[in-house]
Amino acid sequence: MNVDVDLNRAEPAVQFVTSEKNKHLPEKTSILGDRMEASFWLARWQEGRIGFHEAEGNDLLRKYLIRLTGGETTSVLVPLCGKAVDLRLLAAAGHQVWGVELVPLAAEAFFQESGVTPERDALGPFERLRTENLTYLLGDVFALTPELLGPVGAIFDRAALVALEPSTRERYVEVLSACLAPGGRILLVTFTYDQALAPGPPFSVPREEVQRLFGERFELTLLEERPVEAQNPRLREQDVTSIQEVAWLLRDLRS
Ligand SMILES: C[S@@+](CC[C@H](N)C(=O)[O-])C[C@H]1O[C@@H](n2cnc3c(N)ncnc32)[C@H](O)[C@@H]1O
Repeated sequence: MNVDVDLNRAEPAVQFVTSEKNKHLPEKTSILGDRMEASFWLARWQEGRIGFHEAEGNDLLRKYLIRLTGGETTSVLVPLCGKAVDLRLLAAAGHQVWGVELVPLAAEAFFQESGVTPERDALGPFERLRTENLTYLLGDVFALTPELLGPVGAIFDRAALVALEPSTRERYVEVLSACLAPGGRILLVTFTYDQALAPGPPFSVPREEVQRLFGERFELTLLEERPVEAQNPRLREQDVTSIQEVAWLLRDLRS
């Protein structure tokens, strides 16, 4: 089956691959560019090169969850979610959770490891997998719209912005901003390192870049900056020894 989907009016149509299993994968999009085409992530999942996955979930989310949600039960979007156990943590805390991910294998692994069988249907251009208060959307994050989601009260971005081709960052921030309710918050976890030593992903997203991308629409609070070990073997091979993980709280300035 070939499906042409116009992800963005300004961009040419995207062709989906033919296999039924991967039907929500854009084969190549001008949004994603060469390096980050869907096949790049599909291969990483197929080959088990998912060093980014945190078996115990993200400690920064646990630490700053109240700052993210304001202590209220809300809807939380987790873009580029992979099989993050954080989705479960957020759902268990009573939030309405939306995960968005391109690769079907990631969704399969997530639900298998969660021990639940989701209901499946379609939501716009996405395949929707649902269990109680958790909805996992299979498809391209750039196809998200507030009409599909709600909009949401909070967004948890861990290893998402840093995974995207830098040229797509503005468009990504547009999508997040459009999906966030006025006054909503984003917990953003980025990496910074010397990009001259190695190419991404993960891409380095320095402070000035966070300021440039979000500064006009959000109040920015740097919550924490800490050195981390390079999980990515390619970064280790390139002698990228100094990596900082930076947690930001971004509050939408619209009231
Ligand atoms: C670095 S991983 C991070 C996964 C997750 N956030 C975590 O912390 O484990 C990036 C994920 O984004 C997915 N991805 C990449 N491009 C995407 C896109 N355009 N739309 C949706 N998901 C995408 C990849 O398949 C991969 O699972």
